[in-house]
Amino acid sequence: MPLTNDVYIIGKNEELVSLVKEQIGNYFTAHEIAIEEIRKYEPNLIVLVNAEGNTAVEYAQLILSELHETAIICVNDEENFDVLRGLNRLGITDYYILPGEEILFMEKLHTLAREAGQRKLQDQALMKRGGGKVFSFYSGSGGTGKSIVSSVFAQTLKLESTANVLFIDLNLQYGGAETYLNLDSSRSIVDLLPVIDELNEQHIRNVAEMEEHSNMHVIVSPRDAEMAERVSEELILRLLRAAKRSYDFIIIDLPVWMDERTYIALEESTKIYYVMNLDTQAIKIFHHVEKLFQRLGIVMEERMDMVLNFKGKDKELTKKDLERFVTYPIAVEIRRDKNLQNFINKGVPLRKTPKEKKMTSFAKDVHKWVNSMLK
Ligand SMILES: Nc1ncnc2c1ncn2[C@@H]1O[C@H](COP(=O)(O)OP(=O)(O)OP(=O)(O)O)[C@@H](O)[C@H]1O
Ligand SMILES: [Mg+2]
Repeated sequence: MPLTNDVYIIGKNEELVSLVKEQIGNYFTAHEIAIEEIRKYEPNLIVLVNAEGNTAVEYAQLILSELHETAIICVNDEENFDVLRGLNRLGITDYYILPGEEILFMEKLHTLAREAGQRKLQDQALMKRGGGKVFSFYSGSGGTGKSIVSSVFAQTLKLESTANVLFIDLNLQYGGAETYLNLDSSRSIVDLLPVIDELNEQHIRNVAEMEEHSNMHVIVSPRDAEMAERVSEELILRLLRAAKRSYDFIIIDLPVWMDERTYIALEESTKIYYVMNLDTQAIKIFHHVEKLFQRLGIVMEERMDMVLNFKGKDKELTKKDLERFVTYPIAVEIRRDKNLQNFINKGVPLRKTPKEKKMTSFAKDVHKWVNSMLK
């Protein structure tokens, strides 16, 4: 029987929290989180610890309004009818007094964990069918090709499959991928701010531009720095969570700098493609980024792949050399393409139709990569 191992404890009552941790520690992994963090963790099973001011009722209400499939079990350190009544009104009937009702509490927790485990399995099955994958393109160095590679990757994915693809430019300034996609949008991610609390597929469609050749949806960054300031990590989180429900692939073009917004996009990513040049300087910068990611707790194992751009004879290093310094898989090598600038200057997209015959070498390399992924 599947069992949820993770139990999230919420409530500002140190003594009672320690007691709960002690009780459940042998059977579950206890995570103590703040009420403000529920959206981030989306817990399946919560032990709500009552605290001064009877916060349990208020917190329960918040949890119920934010998360729809979470089991809540409440504990208190004394009989308290206000809490009991408040919880009952919200439909929460699992309420125990500790110390005293340890056995009943543990029995109920095991039952709820089993049910939560079942739900999680069902969710995972759903994710496999309809849940979107998020691919982020990142680099610690500027000008390595994040924007052009990510946009051609997304176009290719859309053209060569029946998948729904959303491209999001998170550079939060002008000059990101919209220039390569030749879009001139009056709407941007900022237009999602008024609907942040109820963000859904329709809102995304209303704000997205359609790239005319591939029909993929694109959300661009605001051009105005002041507007860009208003894009919060919360907005990005909500956008990605909503997008995952209605798109198969979400491709993100990220800026070089690390802030809360870049961080949250990386956290939400299924894959992180690190775009780099083949030289020693690039490796040095990569190792800095690796350390930074470790410090921030961004998981790289099984998630980070390298994209080697500007491949050519004149390169200081080869793929073999790189493999000695970097342990992550190399997803693709993309050749330096003399023709690329021509396309960009003329505002001609690199990909226009499925199964194109005449492609420039850059588009060919990306095509091969995407096709091998789709198999
Ligand atoms: N394989 C390639 N062959 C030739 N030119 C390339 C190649 N890849 C990228 N370029 C060129 O390099 C320049 C930088 O590319 P791009 O804007 O995609 O980089 P970036 O990493 O997004 O930069 P920034 O850090 O400024 O966001 C562009 O002019 C692009 O056309
Ligand atoms: Mg860029």
